[in-house]
Amino acid sequence: MTKPHILQVGPYPEWDQVPLDAAFHMHRYFEAPDKASFLAEVGPQIRGIATRGELGANAAMIAACPQLEVISVYGVGYDAVDLDAARARGIRVTNTPDVLTNDVADLGVAMMLVQSRGMIGAETWVRDGSWAAKGLYPLQRRVWGKRAGVLGLGRIGFEVAKRLAGFDLEIAYSDVGPKDYAKGWEFIADPVALAARSDFLFVTLAASAVTRHIVGAKVIEALGPEGMLINISRASNIDEEALLAALESGKLGSAALDVFEGEPKLNPRFLDLPNVLVQPHHASGTYETRQAMGKLVRDNLTAHFAGQPLLTPVL
Ligand code: 8YV
Repeated sequence: MTKPHILQVGPYPEWDQVPLDAAFHMHRYFEAPDKASFLAEVGPQIRGIATRGELGANAAMIAACPQLEVISVYGVGYDAVDLDAARARGIRVTNTPDVLTNDVADLGVAMMLVQSRGMIGAETWVRDGSWAAKGLYPLQRRVWGKRAGVLGLGRIGFEVAKRLAGFDLEIAYSDVGPKDYAKGWEFIADPVALAARSDFLFVTLAASAVTRHIVGAKVIEALGPEGMLINISRASNIDEEALLAALESGKLGSAALDVFEGEPKLNPRFLDLPNVLVQPHHASGTYETRQAMGKLVRDNLTAHFAGQPLLTPVL
């Protein structure tokens, strides 16, 4: 039997690449110097796309593959896949939920702790001799007992809130409606009101056109000069221009960010700010989770081409 032809949008670790190459005929889009002519050449044979959360598959890519049947996303977020284009042609879409939830929540909570306690600066204080030369490190902000807001109490938001409860934080959340699994946590529908009562605001929403810039100037200013914004979702959920302006003026205390507009390039203004912790979109980046994500990408493709039910379908 001939192997299905798959368009591979971005690189995967070796432990995924080897079994993918064994089971499928992989076409490495990311290695092509001229993407448009590569797509024009291989597109007609492509039956599957293997992509990553932040890379997705846009309308032009989908249109270039007239035989396309399935798009398998390495990531829980599928906002970069043009779902309308896929739906219109009955193309199935899968993602990798659940397997990454706990790692993403861990990183979000770690970023809050690191940033609030000034641990990056403290590390430098030891390494550059400041401790010996200047004495005690400047005092930082307490975490435990404060008020946390979780914007989006889905799988990841729930795990974040569970962890925060362990630090005796007072938890409130916003979502489309109250959740029955949010026992003891206050539901506040309006994100501005949530931010106003929060010291730490976690953004854990699945991104879509509807949530674009849901964290705008009003939410940011409600969080205020003592507040911290933590984003482990997608940059599009935040109005980055408003965020930068508030961080620069001091209207917002600080931010801890794993995602950026235009990543891996980011607005250089972030790098001039002392009140931002920047991370390279690695919330799911552990060996254990990435291996589970890669397996799910393959298992979904295998199930599709064997005519079996998809494991984690989006469409
Ligand atoms: C990325 C993610 O897919 O799950 C998501 O939605 O954005 C991440 O897990 C990961 O960085 C691999 O590219």
